[in-house]
Amino acid sequence: MDSKIVAVFQVVTFCICLAAANSVAFSYPAVFNFGDSNSDTGELGAAMGFLVAPPNGEKYFKTPSGRFCDGRLIVDFLMDAMKLPFLNAYMNSVGLPNFQRGCNFAAAGSTILPANAASISPFSFGVQVYQFLRFRALSLQLLQGNKSYQYVPSEDSFEKGLYMFDIGQNDLAGAFYSKTLPQILASIQAILLEFETGIKKLYDSGARNFWIHNTGPLGCLPQTVAQFGTNPSTLDELGCVSSLNQAAKAFNIQLQAFCSKLKSQYPDANVTHVDIYTIKLNLIANSSKYGFKHSIMACCGHGGPPLNFDSRVSCGLTKIVNGTEITAKSCNDSSVYISWDGTHYTEAANEHVASQILTGNYSTGK
Ligand SMILES: *[C@@H]1O[C@H](CO)[C@@H](O)[C@H](O)[C@H]1NC(C)=O
Ligand SMILES: *[C@@H]1O[C@H](CO)[C@@H](O)[C@H](O)[C@H]1NC(C)=O
Ligand SMILES: *[C@@H]1O[C@H](CO)[C@@H](O)[C@H](O)[C@H]1NC(C)=O
Ligand SMILES: *[C@@H]1O[C@H](CO)[C@@H](O)[C@H](O)[C@H]1NC(C)=O
Ligand SMILES: *[C@@H]1O[C@H](CO)[C@@H](O)[C@H](O)[C@H]1NC(C)=O
Ligand SMILES: *[C@@H]1O[C@H](CO)[C@@H](O)[C@H](O)[C@H]1NC(C)=O
Repeated sequence: MDSKIVAVFQVVTFCICLAAANSVAFSYPAVFNFGDSNSDTGELGAAMGFLVAPPNGEKYFKTPSGRFCDGRLIVDFLMDAMKLPFLNAYMNSVGLPNFQRGCNFAAAGSTILPANAASISPFSFGVQVYQFLRFRALSLQLLQGNKSYQYVPSEDSFEKGLYMFDIGQNDLAGAFYSKTLPQILASIQAILLEFETGIKKLYDSGARNFWIHNTGPLGCLPQTVAQFGTNPSTLDELGCVSSLNQAAKAFNIQLQAFCSKLKSQYPDANVTHVDIYTIKLNLIANSSKYGFKHSIMACCGHGGPPLNFDSRVSCGLTKIVNGTEITAKSCNDSSVYISWDGTHYTEAANEHVASQILTGNYSTGK
């Protein structure tokens, strides 16, 4: 073959590969999301009757909007990329919420394993799945009475919609308060069995497109560094608590194996696994390359460097401790921080993570 033709051919195939990697095929009539605070768009606040305090939301919504963030979450950026409106929280009943393009069952503090007396959120994964099944049944009932009813997804959307999951962080990070690393590693199987039970119920109800995020480097959160990283020997070269990242990695390996199993069990389903851990760890390790100045320290907190995190007072709140008032305040420029409040990421970091997801480079499956 003429060498010029070969060169052109190579350029063309290269471009096709690049385009394929770039375009996460993203067109769905509706999205149903399950998870914890990483993707809670107002659920826990609506359910428990509290308002997330300012300065949460200051950067984008100009009101806290029920999110534990200065602005948008990863799920918000993904909805944007799908040209769909932001998801309404299932339990938010104020302001005629429209669920036609989907519904968000994620609630801050939720675990995969059933909640117990110590849980922040009673809405563990199994409960979220039951909420979805009720939502689906009532939606179909409404549509049966009125085919043009506009505030719930169409019957078709339940089958063709995207089912997204970002949950497990609280099962792991929360367990470190009462369990040893070997105990936590040993519990991963039971956590994933509970996850599987929920996923199968969704499949049986007609869900076919699954989009599963793995868990992030939990040992790099200011909250976990403050709690478990006071002894420098527990930290790795990035300043993250090694044992927490070890648990996250072990969970993720088993989660990926579960995704592969799901795909072979259900050949008629799309199962996409998204490696959030690698995206977030890369962001923390190479923060300056991506425009961030603080890789670990929280923007909104109390106590100042190195963590600006104080477990006694959450972002936006004031407490009197020993007769002294302490307030967790926002920093001046959240766009150069990865951590918003010690537990959750800033909008700037979420935007970076979402843009990396959308390259398709961290997704496997289909
Ligand atoms: C059916 O739903 C549409 C759109 O929500 C509404 O405009 C219409 O009044 C409803 N019809 C009946 C009979 O309730
Ligand atoms: C799986 O995804 C592809 C591409 O997005 C889509 O064409 C197909 O309909 C999906 N399969 C199911 C069962 O929804
Ligand atoms: C940081 O960036 C370098 C250079 O691109 C890369 O080799 C390395 O894997 C990154 N670190 C992490 C933890 O991803
Ligand atoms: C309150 O102040 C006393 C005396 O300064 C100190 O010993 C104690 O640790 C303080 N308690 C807290 C919760 O900071
Ligand atoms: C924010 O900026 C002001 C003015 O430059 C400065 O006085 C203040 O210390 C800064 N606050 C923080 C939390 O960095
Ligand atoms: C995806 O990963 C490949 C291989 O590491 C890299 O060359 C490419 O630039 C990445 N694509 C995007 C859009 O980041």
